[in-house]
Amino acid sequence: MSPDNRPIGIFDSGLGGLSVLRAVRDQLPDENFIYIADQIHVPYGPRPKTEVERLSQGIVRFLVSRDVKLVVVACNTASAASLKKLRASYPGLPFVGMEPAVKPAAEETSSGVVGVLATPATFQGELYNSTVERFAQGVTVLQHTCPGLVHQIEMGRVADAETKEILERALIPMLEKGVDKVVMGCTHYPFVIPLIKEIVGAEIEVIDPAPAVARQVGRLLDRHDLRAKAGGRGQIQFMTTGDPAEFSRRLIQLLRLESQVTRLAWVNGELVEG
Ligand code: DGL
Repeated sequence: MSPDNRPIGIFDSGLGGLSVLRAVRDQLPDENFIYIADQIHVPYGPRPKTEVERLSQGIVRFLVSRDVKLVVVACNTASAASLKKLRASYPGLPFVGMEPAVKPAAEETSSGVVGVLATPATFQGELYNSTVERFAQGVTVLQHTCPGLVHQIEMGRVADAETKEILERALIPMLEKGVDKVVMGCTHYPFVIPLIKEIVGAEIEVIDPAPAVARQVGRLLDRHDLRAKAGGRGQIQFMTTGDPAEFSRRLIQLLRLESQVTRLAWVNGELVEG
């Protein structure tokens, strides 16, 4: 079997997908990646499903033009809006999407109460609701959209007082109702896990689905015989429809990574470089 060094495409509305990229790269260090952040449109959460779907399709068309071998939809909102159609549009291309980790939370809760933090679009989606219906029978599932939290994280305010207040508004009522698991249903939110832990304490488990998503990427690479050459350190190409200089600063802050960032623009529904 010859190695396949083509990149894995990974995208989000902004910085959130970096929490997924971090986990995938930890498990698959030989792989090359193209990461796209559609920051001109962040947040996706309050947008209509049809718009998120159209944006996701445009990003995937661009990734396919760059010859990616697999796509990680590192955004719960985009997964809820578009994963089904993306899979149908590209039958030969493996996709890995995000799904709030309600199943492990519901299986492991002792109190019978779990909390989920996600965007409005994720909560409204069929994917989330069918997961709750299938796996959380007899468990109380509390939900909160944490308005403003995605914006705070995009601004790099992962440890400030306003961010903590947003989280307190979501988490304190959950604690009062006896929650013992809190699920990160938005890929931005793992960047504020230290603040969440300050609020909920050490007893409550905070579930970030990124490591499980990374394992699924590994399984699909094996199944389709797509692994990169072992032993070479993979490269990551970062691209944003927002401000590349700002994105670089956030990369250093959130991932301790220095890298060049390419600017992308939307032109007539297509992504183009520059
Ligand atoms: N990080 C995304 C998610 O997982 C989207 C956040 C947003 O743009 O609203 O849902």
